[in-house]
Amino acid sequence: MTTPEELVKLALKARERAYTPYSGFAVGAALLCSDGSVYQGCNIENAAFGPTVCAERVAVFKAVSEGKRDFAGLAVAGGRAGEEVSGLFPPCGVCRQVLREFCALDFPLYLVKENNTFETHVLGELLPFSFSNADMN
Ligand code: THU
Repeated sequence: MTTPEELVKLALKARERAYTPYSGFAVGAALLCSDGSVYQGCNIENAAFGPTVCAERVAVFKAVSEGKRDFAGLAVAGGRAGEEVSGLFPPCGVCRQVLREFCALDFPLYLVKENNTFETHVLGELLPFSFSNADMN
């Protein structure tokens, strides 16, 4: 099984493929599925701005569209394009909610910071008192 350290490396690799001519801000993500497979994502911007998608959602949607719904962890790395990651990058609110659709509150996120080190946080910390499919019952 891919370790958090390896997942972080895959997020950093995905970050190199970010398409960010407008913000100049490059984000990479690597999503580990419970079956051991990994889906990478990068942010993809658009001249019309609105269609821009975040790296995390690209990774989740790639996985779900391939039939994966059970996830074990997500690594995320963001920072100025062409530069090393200089600080921790917390996923946006929309990405947190998308993760909540498929992940429990103890789902781990490995957030990359300076020198490619990382901090582990769980989804429940990032999205407390969340609305989820459990509230639809
Ligand atoms: N971005 C992500 O890829 N993930 C997030 O969680 C927040 C922001 C991207 C979108 C845009 O291309 C750039 O970062 C600046 O907002």
